[in-house]
Amino acid sequence: MTESMDPRGPTLHPVATPVRVAPEQYDRGVGEVLVSAEDLQRRVRELGEQISRDYGGRPLLLVGVLKGAVFFLSDLMRFIDIPVEIDFMAVASYGSATDSSGVVRILKDLDAAIEGRDVLIVEDIVDSGLTLQYLLRNLGSRNPRTLEVCALLVKPARRKVELPSKYIGFEIEDRFVVGYGLDYGERYRNLPFVAALEK
Ligand code: IMP
Ligand code: MG
Repeated sequence: MTESMDPRGPTLHPVATPVRVAPEQYDRGVGEVLVSAEDLQRRVRELGEQISRDYGGRPLLLVGVLKGAVFFLSDLMRFIDIPVEIDFMAVASYGSATDSSGVVRILKDLDAAIEGRDVLIVEDIVDSGLTLQYLLRNLGSRNPRTLEVCALLVKPARRKVELPSKYIGFEIEDRFVVGYGLDYGERYRNLPFVAALEK
């Protein structure tokens, strides 16, 4: 994926293009690379710069959704140059290993209240959107000043609910992906790229 390959230009989020090279040195379960480590870093920098401009010096609270968003969040915040704090939520979504049901349970809540604050939810991936829909409702009811979403990846083909996602890293095709925080059965989070899981 290069900028010149994205016909919509640099202001809209890019669509990931698979690279037909299997990184065999990592794991036999890892298939095509959908987003390389270089493309991830470039896009995360762009998002950080955009967020810094948009919040214009107002203190920002990033809410990371454990565990997958930790990797994205920690890279992202190093490209944000306005006052920024972080907090985390852990949620469990009932369903299979690859499908969430929308029935969400809070495993760990935020440490502090968010009333009156500018809050940006940082998610690894929006698949059906059901987890994010729950989070937006739940955090929205706590009366933040603003509440927005920054998702590294979106899978439009799988979306079940319409959601406002202001910041999006990459749009990907309908495949189960691992790496850069994303897991399959808790494994593969450490891969420095995003790859499809081989069937
Ligand atoms: P949703 O509720 O269907 O949008 O699912 C959201 C959550 O499911 C994400 O935060 C991930 O933890 C997980 N998930 C969805 N798709 C993938 C994937 O392709 N790889 C790894 N985890 C995924
Ligand atoms: Mg997961």
